[in-house]
Amino acid sequence: MGARAGVWNGGMNDADAAQRAFRDLLRSRPVWDTELPSFDPATAPPAPLPLFHAWFAEAVAAGQPEPHAMTLATVDAADRPDVRTLLLHDADGRGWHFATHSTSAKGHQLAARPHAALGFYWPVQGRQVRVRGPVTTGTRAESSADLHARSTGALAAALTGAQSGLLESTAELHRAADAAWERAAAEPDAEAPTWTRYVVEPAEVEFFQGDARRRHLRLRYRATGPGTWTRELLWP
Ligand SMILES: Cc1cc2nc3c(=O)[nH]c(=O)nc-3n(C[C@H](O)[C@H](O)[C@H](O)COP(=O)(O)O)c2cc1C
Repeated sequence: MGARAGVWNGGMNDADAAQRAFRDLLRSRPVWDTELPSFDPATAPPAPLPLFHAWFAEAVAAGQPEPHAMTLATVDAADRPDVRTLLLHDADGRGWHFATHSTSAKGHQLAARPHAALGFYWPVQGRQVRVRGPVTTGTRAESSADLHARSTGALAAALTGAQSGLLESTAELHRAADAAWERAAAEPDAEAPTWTRYVVEPAEVEFFQGDARRRHLRLRYRATGPGTWTRELLWP
């Protein structure tokens, strides 16, 4: 019997029972039941990028699955927030790089409001990194290089359909994906004209180290000029 409201079940209907089961499951989830690394903000480097590179390497070494997956938050033209997961393509002196279609929902949002926030969560170590700042668009050559530096599957995905547009049916998706795979395999230099490299230029970068006794450490870097940063601790 499904969780239909109004189906009586010994004083509790199925919807109530399903809700209770969900809450029990939710409350029984542990957080950070592993050994967490220590973090001394006093030894942190003067700029956030070397610390991000170090934490990323440590996340990989600790076995964190998909540490390059991050949330990207944007706002639409009416200032309503939106969020989704993307892959990080680089982090260098220009900023944090990702790629997507300029015609997707996020592409339109970034065209209207070129600011974003990124979030990384690496639970194996109880770590979070947040990045906020203005977003710039890479050149066409950079976007094309991004498209062709990755796998046939990634190229096929970029060639499939109009991201964030309405899809008639899953059959339509399968047809388009098969055609895109064939094209990507036969034509590895094929272009996806809307595929675009974006860069979040960091105005603020925050490093959060979780602590089993809840004495979490938060270190925020704020850009004060080109290449200069203020470091400050935040209450958890
Ligand atoms: C782990 C993971 C990685 C993803 N990486 C990308 C990516 O690098 N680029 C992209 O356009 N979409 C990626 N997606 C899909 C996006 O989350 C999203 O569904 C899509 O980009 C449409 O978003 P939008 O409608 O807000 O524009 C990824 C999804 C997941 C779950």
